[in-house]
Amino acid sequence: MKAREMQKPKTSPEIFAELILEDLAAVKDFAARFAPLLVRGDVVALDGSLGAGKTALCRAIIQALGYEGDVPSPTFNLVQIYDPSAKSLRENPNAPTIWHMDLYRLERPEEAFELGIEEAFDTAASLIEWPSKLGPHLPAGFLTLRLEICAIIDQYNAARKLSLIGDMVWRERLAADFKEDFLS
Ligand SMILES: Nc1ncnc2c1ncn2[C@@H]1O[C@H](COP(=O)(O)OP(=O)(O)OP(=O)(O)O)[C@@H](O)[C@H]1O
Ligand SMILES: [Mg+2]
Repeated sequence: MKAREMQKPKTSPEIFAELILEDLAAVKDFAARFAPLLVRGDVVALDGSLGAGKTALCRAIIQALGYEGDVPSPTFNLVQIYDPSAKSLRENPNAPTIWHMDLYRLERPEEAFELGIEEAFDTAASLIEWPSKLGPHLPAGFLTLRLEICAIIDQYNAARKLSLIGDMVWRERLAADFKEDFLS
């Protein structure tokens, strides 16, 4: 049996934390706290409508892990893979490879197998925009980061509400670093 099949959720997912991200600096701050907690096998679903800030959050997470190059939106090639930098491996020998996926253009869930999602779920940490496109192939025990525009600041800027949605395993994993953002 594969590792992820044994990790059945202990409880059903619920919203356990909320943060307001006023601007991209706040996105960066969140990513700096969140990214070091990622390990191989993690699946993070980025939920939110067009332009909600999914790519900006993934980019900040990948950069927080020490990646210094461009982090383009995977809108066209659907997947971008980021190996941990030598520096991040020195700090954390278990730093995972990150698969950043944007599945908006997927027509059928089965097409995702051609992208190598099974390899990603087994050996890397996955950040998935438009996760609903995976249908039944989204593995159990994923964490959802839900983004919603919550306050228009001016023509170019709008704050986002970020909700963390997951089972008890995720709640416990994030408790030490995000306790102040927990709803209860
Ligand atoms: N918290 C934030 N505060 C201010 N601007 C933000 C924030 N998050 C994202 N943005 C800006 O909003 C725009 C859209 O963001 P982004 O491309 O990340 O959205 P998306 O959810 O990935 O969209 P799509 O559905 O097209 O993939 C970008 O210009 C980005 O810089
Ligand atoms: Mg995007």
